[in-house]
Amino acid sequence: MDSPLRSIDERLLATIPPSALKTLLDASIALGSSLDLGETLERTVEGATELLRLDTGAVYTVDGEVLLLGATVPALPPDFPDELRRASIHDHPTIRRALATGTSVVVEDALKADFTPAERAVVDARDLRSVLYMPLMMRGEPIGVFIVGSSAGHRHHFAEADMDLARAFAALASAAVSNACLMRRARRAVDDLTRAYNSTIEGWSRVLDLRDHETDRHSLRVADLTVALAREMGIGEPAIGDLRRGALLHDIGKIGVPDAILNKPGALTPKERAVMETHPTLAREILSTIDFLEPALDIPYCHHEKWDGSGYPRGLKGQDIPLAARLFAIVDVYDALTSDRPYRAAWSRKAAIEFIRGQSGIHFDPTVVDVFLSVIGSRGSHI
Ligand code: C2E
Ligand code: SIN
Ligand code: SIN
Ligand code: FE
Ligand code: FE
Repeated sequence: MDSPLRSIDERLLATIPPSALKTLLDASIALGSSLDLGETLERTVEGATELLRLDTGAVYTVDGEVLLLGATVPALPPDFPDELRRASIHDHPTIRRALATGTSVVVEDALKADFTPAERAVVDARDLRSVLYMPLMMRGEPIGVFIVGSSAGHRHHFAEADMDLARAFAALASAAVSNACLMRRARRAVDDLTRAYNSTIEGWSRVLDLRDHETDRHSLRVADLTVALAREMGIGEPAIGDLRRGALLHDIGKIGVPDAILNKPGALTPKERAVMETHPTLAREILSTIDFLEPALDIPYCHHEKWDGSGYPRGLKGQDIPLAARLFAIVDVYDALTSDRPYRAAWSRKAAIEFIRGQSGIHFDPTVVDVFLSVIGSRGSHI
């Protein structure tokens, strides 16, 4: 990024008195300490009014022909409606002139100015008399404008020293606002991508369920119940997304298990059982090549480990089993038992709960079993 100071004429800096430089420095430190666009705009308008010792100000960003009111001094009420923030640049020719020329515009006496009705409305509402419009520019493009003014009782003369100060501050504010805009766009792009990934993964889980003869969405159900259990256990939000994706994909490794085994109506032979038990390792091979899914691997890879160490594929024991997998294992077995399988009919809810309770400390982590039983107890009979 260009240094904002490069665009400030050095002679200009030399004309700013030391006391004002101190204020400028303080304002620029405040500006630099946030990457949030809303906060950056607040600090821009606060800094501008303080620097010029005025009591009224506003800052807008521009997006094509739309002006968006970012912040004002005095501050806007927190419930200020969004639709009142938007204005068309065509209704505000004074702002438009500042943006088009990249230079400031001063209106010495708003009472005598030739304003449009929209401009007049703003000036009246804010009770403005002498007004300075200062564009915020980044690489020659307008990104916003700050406006400071004196209130109606007082005409204010913008001295050349004040204008220098305002221009220096505008250069700093431009860089800060531009960075905050870039950051906001980057965050939105990440959010959009995450949403797209999540729907892709849900689609995938649906395909896997269909092959496993799960017409009623086993994967979606266990994902929801796993998330509820995790929240109950106090697991924080960033980990919840990984947990949900892991649960949706827990049996993805079964795509390597032939239909003859997967759909076999009876019990598996030891050989068939051995093939079936490769599914967690296969899941790891598939998912570890996808960066985004790597943190979601604990469930697909470890959901058949058992608390007493008798599970597979690694025979992990107790707390060596990742918490996500200890939690998920209970949900998966509960849901498997209460569903029809090619090799047996569904168990009753009561029988499944008894089974889980009986496996506490054997197959399952006893602490998680207790939380699971309270979650399932509060959910009624639909699951
Ligand atoms: P799944 O059907 O989704 O079952 C997941 C886990 O739920 C099983 O892991 C097991 O811990 C528990 N579970 C499911 N059904 C029963 C049951 O009738 N009794 C008991 N005590 N527990 C049950 P597991 O055993 O490692 O099996 C993994 C996968 O292997 C199963 O996923 C299923 O696809 C397949 N499988 C397991 N047993 C058989 C079988 O007898 N015949 C066939 N065709 N497939 C089987
Ligand atoms: C202001 O918001 O302070 C003035 C804006 C304008 O004149 O359009
Ligand atoms: C925005 O992204 O909110 C507008 C500012 C800009 O166009 O850089
Ligand atoms: Fe499995
Ligand atoms: Fe399952």
